[in-house]
Amino acid sequence: MSDSSPRTWLVTGASSGFGRALTEAIIACGDVVVATARKPEAIEDLASRAPDQCHVLPLDVTQAGAPAAVVREALARVPCIDVLVNNAGRGLLGAVEECSEAEARACMELNFFAQLAMIHAILPHFRGRRSGHVIQMGAAAAIANYAGFGIYGAAKAATSSLVEALAQEVRPMGIKVTLVEPGPFRTDFIGRSMARAAVSLPEYEPTAGRFAQYLGKIDGHQPGNPHLAASLIVRMVLSGKPPMRLVLGKYAIDKTRRTFAARERELAQQEVEGAATDGP
Ligand SMILES: NC(=O)c1ccc[n+]([C@@H]2O[C@H](COP(=O)([O-])OP(=O)(O)OC[C@H]3O[C@@H](n4cnc5c(N)ncnc54)[C@H](OP(=O)(O)O)[C@@H]3O)[C@@H](O)[C@H]2O)c1
Repeated sequence: MSDSSPRTWLVTGASSGFGRALTEAIIACGDVVVATARKPEAIEDLASRAPDQCHVLPLDVTQAGAPAAVVREALARVPCIDVLVNNAGRGLLGAVEECSEAEARACMELNFFAQLAMIHAILPHFRGRRSGHVIQMGAAAAIANYAGFGIYGAAKAATSSLVEALAQEVRPMGIKVTLVEPGPFRTDFIGRSMARAAVSLPEYEPTAGRFAQYLGKIDGHQPGNPHLAASLIVRMVLSGKPPMRLVLGKYAIDKTRRTFAARERELAQQEVEGAATDGP
């Protein structure tokens, strides 16, 4: 956006990590934020420091009806919402076979259906104003997945695909969509925001088990700084020309390049025979 009037953002999962860092960056740039969290007390300090710029509302995004209610409640406090940051999320560690259907459904409920519910809740407002910006937190696991992250990566990939279609559908109405794809960042994600499959089978120790060990080792030492990511996201929104995808951190950038290069090599090998299957 090129004008300098303050925007209003609605952020989910603002209690820690990217959500809290974004709330701080939004306040710092002079914009207004409706910061939502399951435990609103975790962000009351930000609201008390900037009461005119930060409104705090309780929100568990997985509760039926809560996304629509929070948008109504937000619009009772602020005249409009310009940006939705669909950020709340949790991981699920475990091999595909180790994750129960209930664990998988809970992961999909939060990382896919609740994101969809927030998008459904905000779109009538954005359509009515013929403007708005949905920022969706994706994940490097959705670019190419790892053993041990099958269900989480599937939920994130489903959400990525959802917003890829959404971007094309709402562009003619002046609504923007950006998918943020972070690599490892120093947040609470690997710690308290990582569910683990209750079942652990020895056969998966060399694959999913090793990945879990790797995550345990990097926790607290992830290269990504959520405050630097938040200020880039804010600058990207303020630029008025946001990309459809924003890949964050060198790890995710290298991974994206490697993934595309591997696909290109594979495609080249199958091009002749694959194309020859077109026919009457
Ligand atoms: N950090 C990384 O390396 C990384 C990489 C790729 C993608 N991501 C994505 O980044 C997003 C933010 O995670 P983070 O890294 O900032 O981790 P984080 O510090 O653990 O933050 C996760 C946030 O999501 C909230 N949340 C979880 N379940 C919720 C629910 N049902 N309703 C409302 N809020 C809920 C948490 O709230 P509570 O305090 O109530 O638990 C917390 O505020 C997630 O979508 C995650 O998948 C993170």
